[in-house]
Amino acid sequence: MKAAVLISGGGSNLKALIDAIGSGRLDLEIVLVVSNREDAGGVDYARAADIPVSIVSHTAFEERQKHDAAVAEVLLGAEPQLIILAGYMRILGDDFTRRFHGRLINLHPSLLPLHKGLDTYRRVLRAGDSEYGASIHFVNAGLDAGPVISQITLAVLADDDANSLKSRLGPLEHRLLVATVDLFCRHEIRYENEQIIYKKQVLTQALQLNQKGTLTV
Ligand code: GRF
Repeated sequence: MKAAVLISGGGSNLKALIDAIGSGRLDLEIVLVVSNREDAGGVDYARAADIPVSIVSHTAFEERQKHDAAVAEVLLGAEPQLIILAGYMRILGDDFTRRFHGRLINLHPSLLPLHKGLDTYRRVLRAGDSEYGASIHFVNAGLDAGPVISQITLAVLADDDANSLKSRLGPLEHRLLVATVDLFCRHEIRYENEQIIYKKQVLTQALQLNQKGTLTV
């Protein structure tokens, strides 16, 4: 499976994928990393792993659509079968999401459909939620929308603040991403007629990452 990974920041999720490939846990080739920021930490991880990097800075484009089109162009050149948004902090327009429909996935730090958008940890606390987590979903037009493939769910503890929520979730997000991408590598998941097909069955609720790090229905 050939994938492209889009990043904007630290790139710890990209690194989790690179490490899983390196240790033989993931049969994936990352053919391209695209970042909208030259200084994104993840760019160094990609370069250290000899993965081609394209920097497509959003500041060079006046319109969002034109930036999207430039990103689409570099992606098309790399011919990825899967495009992974791993901390890509740009909203993608309809043209882009339509173009890569069915092969575009995003990692979001909340139990979607709850808390779309930014600042999810603080919003979990403000809402008094008893649980929080991360989701991976197919991307369609709309912010953090599209059917959810998989989730990791954790309890909110009495003394949690936004930082503790984030640091507890981080390593589990990495596991969720690797396990979910592994489903694509094994051709066990696809998006068809706005439905997720998992092992030839329609998936009616998100797969859950269990304690052992495997995804279950
Ligand atoms: C992750 O928390 C992910 O859920 C969100 O952005 C963060 C990216 O972290 N979309 P990193 O850049 O992979 O370290």
